[in-house]
Amino acid sequence: MTDTPSFPAGFLWGAATASYQIEGATKEDGRGQSIWDTFSATPGKVANGDTGEVACDHYHRVPEDVALMRELGLDAYRFSVAWPRIQPDGTGAANPLGLAFYDRLVDQLLGAGIRPVVTLYHWDLPQALEDRGGWRSRDAAGWFADYTAHVVGALGDRVRHWTTLNEPWCSSMLSHAIGAHAPGHRDPMEGLLTAHHLMLAHGTAVPVIREHCADAEVSITLNPSQVHGPEDPTEADLDAVRRADNVLNGVFFGPLFHGAYPEGMLDDVAHLTDGSFVHDGDLETISAPLDNLGVNNYFPARVRATPEGAEPHGTTHLLPGCERVDEVDPHPPLTSMGWEQSPESHRQIVERSARECGLPVYVTENGSAWDDTVSDDGQVHDPERVAYLQGHLAALADSVAAGTDVRGYFAWSLLDNFEWAYGYDQRFGIVRVDYDTQVRTVKDSGREYARIIAAHRGR
Ligand code: NOJ
Repeated sequence: MTDTPSFPAGFLWGAATASYQIEGATKEDGRGQSIWDTFSATPGKVANGDTGEVACDHYHRVPEDVALMRELGLDAYRFSVAWPRIQPDGTGAANPLGLAFYDRLVDQLLGAGIRPVVTLYHWDLPQALEDRGGWRSRDAAGWFADYTAHVVGALGDRVRHWTTLNEPWCSSMLSHAIGAHAPGHRDPMEGLLTAHHLMLAHGTAVPVIREHCADAEVSITLNPSQVHGPEDPTEADLDAVRRADNVLNGVFFGPLFHGAYPEGMLDDVAHLTDGSFVHDGDLETISAPLDNLGVNNYFPARVRATPEGAEPHGTTHLLPGCERVDEVDPHPPLTSMGWEQSPESHRQIVERSARECGLPVYVTENGSAWDDTVSDDGQVHDPERVAYLQGHLAALADSVAAGTDVRGYFAWSLLDNFEWAYGYDQRFGIVRVDYDTQVRTVKDSGREYARIIAAHRGR
């Protein structure tokens, strides 16, 4: 496909990264330890024992990386602030050297005509706070609000686009119920509790952002999934789809946008909790009005009821209320992460998200990992990533044409980077990073993205 999908004038074209995945310099300028430093140093948690200690060395390469963004023609750059750089122990005074790094980054972006879109929390919780209960503690809401005040107080004169949390599903369910991410716990109730506390932190921080940045555009980024059941479902399959949808999507859409947990969800987890973790006033705090919603989406979910007498398949059964929900194998062709590629599901979940929130939506992440190689010509030819990008943009363009209010798209990722539990094995970048030399090479997908952006600018 060579057609350029059509988006309205003013559509924001960006690329995204996250602090722990690219910065490196984990021990510099007073940065404290994060839960990902701890997790990646724990044998068996991350592929090859990889860590974010050096990553893309972005901390020392901001001018080069901003020049790269310019070369691609990006309108916007979505990055996150590392909490342990700002408050090494998680609370108290801000570390001026930590703030200075983001200050320089923002100034260089603005100097290059690139809009900064800042996420306050992309998973690198200060270890000192984890030691005090982390997201399992209700105190986390206050800790996060204080941290937010430091960051927005320092950058809010130049940054308008603020996102509280990136993918709270991952920092709750994946990290505390499934155990694949830091801190690596396996307890369904913890998954639910931390999801609630993350949302409480979000809702507590929203007015803090507005207080420090009068014209702020405030959002949260979720990673909702389109849930597919079997083609010819039984009653039990339909119930499995409902439960999976609640724990993947409704658990956030409900409190954030409807002021309540989805109907039936607290009944499904009655064996785990009497619901007393939800205090009076929490849902009002959590549903503080926002200006837009960020949607990260890569692949759909496929589930069914676990057959009678069988052991559950996959990891969904570890989630609260999903004890008898099976994961069904994804439909090929798969990316190197083993993820299904389904532009149609992407469109469906973007449209659902827009309906749920009633706000403009930005696709704040979308992309694919492949086993890239450098060819003899020194280039990275990544036709699969090009096709994924084109396919998903085409689906998104259809959605916009049908009236969905999508305002922008951010490719994941600007750079190959530390892919969490997969370490450096999985490459999502539209720009290759050679981890031995730190040389950056724009891949074919990066060129195609630049072409699409330029074609829109020319319209
Ligand atoms: C979502 C996360 O926000 C990001 O950190 C991660 O690298 C991508 N998905 C790909 O897994």
